[in-house]
Amino acid sequence: MRSVFRAFLPTAALLASIAEAAHYTVTVGKGGLKFDPENLVAAPGDTVEYQFFAKKHSVVQSSFAEPCKPLAAGGFFSGFTPTDSPDTAARTTFTITVNDTKPIWAYCSQTTGDHCQNGMVHSINAPTSGTNTLDAFRNLAKAAAKPSTSPPDLLPVGGLRKLRVDVGLGGNLTFTPSNITELARTVVEFSFNPKNHSVVQSNFANPCQPLDQGFSSGFIPTAVSPSGALFDIVIKDNTTPIWFYCAQTNNNHCQKGMVGSINAPATGNTLQAFIDKATTAPPSTIPPQAPIGGTMTINGTVITSFNGAVFNPSANTPPPPADGNATVPSPGTPLPPQVPGMAGGGQPANYNWGNNMTDLATEFLQLLQFLDDILLEVLFLGHANLATGGAWAGVYPKSIVDTIGAMSAQALVHRSAATDCLQHFQKPLHGSCSYKLQDASVTTNVDGFLHAALTLLLLEIGLLTDISALIAAGDPWLVPILVTEVGAKSRMTAVVNMMQNHIAAAAPREVMIPAPLAWSYATTHYVRDCQGPAVAGMPDKTWPTLEVTATQAAAAGGGRTTGITVQFDGAGSAGSKYLAWVGPWGGLQFTDLAADGTASVPTELFGHVWIVVVSKKDGVKLQDLPGVTVAGPEILWVSGL
Ligand SMILES: *[C@@H]1O[C@H](CO)[C@@H](O)[C@H](O)[C@H]1NC(C)=O
Ligand SMILES: *[C@@H]1O[C@H](CO)[C@@H](O)[C@H](O)[C@H]1NC(C)=O
Ligand SMILES: *[C@@H]1O[C@H](CO)[C@@H](O)[C@H](O)[C@H]1NC(C)=O
Ligand SMILES: *[C@@H]1O[C@H](CO)[C@@H](O)[C@H](O)[C@H]1NC(C)=O
Ligand SMILES: *[C@@H]1O[C@H](CO)[C@@H](O)[C@H](O)[C@H]1NC(C)=O
Ligand SMILES: *[C@@H]1O[C@H](CO)[C@@H](O)[C@H](O)[C@H]1NC(C)=O
Ligand SMILES: *[C@@H]1O[C@H](CO)[C@@H](O)[C@H](O)[C@H]1NC(C)=O
Repeated sequence: MRSVFRAFLPTAALLASIAEAAHYTVTVGKGGLKFDPENLVAAPGDTVEYQFFAKKHSVVQSSFAEPCKPLAAGGFFSGFTPTDSPDTAARTTFTITVNDTKPIWAYCSQTTGDHCQNGMVHSINAPTSGTNTLDAFRNLAKAAAKPSTSPPDLLPVGGLRKLRVDVGLGGNLTFTPSNITELARTVVEFSFNPKNHSVVQSNFANPCQPLDQGFSSGFIPTAVSPSGALFDIVIKDNTTPIWFYCAQTNNNHCQKGMVGSINAPATGNTLQAFIDKATTAPPSTIPPQAPIGGTMTINGTVITSFNGAVFNPSANTPPPPADGNATVPSPGTPLPPQVPGMAGGGQPANYNWGNNMTDLATEFLQLLQFLDDILLEVLFLGHANLATGGAWAGVYPKSIVDTIGAMSAQALVHRSAATDCLQHFQKPLHGSCSYKLQDASVTTNVDGFLHAALTLLLLEIGLLTDISALIAAGDPWLVPILVTEVGAKSRMTAVVNMMQNHIAAAAPREVMIPAPLAWSYATTHYVRDCQGPAVAGMPDKTWPTLEVTATQAAAAGGGRTTGITVQFDGAGSAGSKYLAWVGPWGGLQFTDLAADGTASVPTELFGHVWIVVVSKKDGVKLQDLPGVTVAGPEILWVSGL
């Protein structure tokens, strides 16, 4: 979120200015005794990942004056990283963060073959002219005393040393690698593949039972390879062997040899002895709580708890179909574990419910659920299209795409609030609907998606505003819930507004909208058909939709919207018609609607407004609108001055 709001400018430069920190890779020992690139230009916040090739290299920070000696003030050191392959990088990598633009000098501290003195040096942000260039540094290294040195404990420091282990690669019951030799302080990262695996710490004596106080990832059922689920543990010391297994009992993974070790002895209690022991072990078990003893992330979001439940694969559902039946999990489905993390919190255990709930609040919560269901379909679909591999991938930077993901998660939590309250008072939930999002052009282009997301958010905000005053007396416990949602939904509109490149100060506006009009708009625009209980208290029929064409004053870059033309079914029917303009601050104004469908825009209105065709204007207040509505509502962007 931070980066989204960092530069809240209504210009095309906006999206460029919120670029993520860069990540660079440097190969170590690929194609000879060298780093590639030898010098790197990097900005503060950028990260540099070193990838190691045969045979056994390191990267150590030094000083310009003493190229082959660790920096006296304490710099970074990767640890030695043996590997056999000259072509494929070791699974172990070392990543540092660049903190400033000062030059960083580094070398390989391998003494067999005197790598540093043979010119295996590296720099970040080295000057390109003057005396302290990379060439000058390399010349100093060639003349440096032999042997070069490493930090005395030979342990990684000043960066992240990480070994990646694949779990269940290619559908096999294996950890790759399983026979691990690694340094203390190294992070071992388990990357999950199909089917439904876990990684749990045990001991040599009981290969398939959890070690007291050991680590456990919990089960990760997934159909995606790699799933994006990563479980990280840290090796605390070099000397204590670590034993682990997969606790899946369906097909006895542990007994079938799905085990591994870190720093197992080469004789006596070897990994092979452990594998042999596992074949006859009793059925596997797993600690009740997960994840513990390590860090679980799912596509970058840290998961602190599965709430006792296993990971819910609904997060892996493919993008919703372009049109038709709902694909968002139905109300009551436990929230996928990553949702509370993404949303910034789950729903509370207790909403401080009152003793009863009025019919008005019931109707209102059913309507909110109905709108949340549509909003969720739209956000899920938009996120799937915007994300890597989607039809609109690359249109927005990752930070914004992730924010849309977080908004989907928040909208799920919001829907739970509505359904939890209805269920608590034993009121019917809204039934399930099928949608016509394709007709609404939500799926065909990113602008259509943004328009639908914004409209649905503004409908909810309008409704929350309309209803909070009305329910305050009868259902005061609902007020904090409604206010929380208005705040969250307003933040969401700000994100969408920015994505539409609209002027931040002017839009979106929080405009009150009577519940039956909100219901009619959502129904006519997005819904094909609904089964089961409907929103109580709504009219028998929806109102005809409005088609609006705006006319603008001539001005450079598009002038103010001065007039509109509306079309709707029944436009030619008898009787005078007016346009009601519903603006912010509960504002309501009327203009005449000419027989040809034209009307002028009230001069002081701008931003998003709702318009409704009505049969009467005198003495009509906002809450009376449904009683006099002929067609609409429709949302209109009234461009500025
Ligand atoms: C950057 O700062 C972090 C935190 O102080 C430190 O751990 C790291 O070693 C620094 N990076 C470099 C290249 O000095
Ligand atoms: C899976 O196991 C089979 C049979 O042992 C082997 O041929 C294949 O290479 C393995 N796949 C992976 C990805 O390790
Ligand atoms: C994953 O495996 C565990 C343990 O067998 C089981 O309890 C859980 O239901 C499985 N999850 C799925 C989605 O298959
Ligand atoms: C594990 O590695 C050690 C040391 O490299 C080796 O002696 C042993 O045979 C390996 N065990 C297995 C099961 O691969
Ligand atoms: C992680 O993201 C990838 C790519 O978008 C997706 O296929 C995968 O399902 C996600 N993983 C989870 C667990 O949600
Ligand atoms: C939508 O759901 C209905 C009722 O469950 C089913 O009959 C229909 O085949 C589904 N349509 C699609 C496109 O999945
Ligand atoms: C509803 O609850 C409120 C307090 O929560 C109470 O004052 C009121 O009498 C209740 N009304 C009914 C009809 O039970």
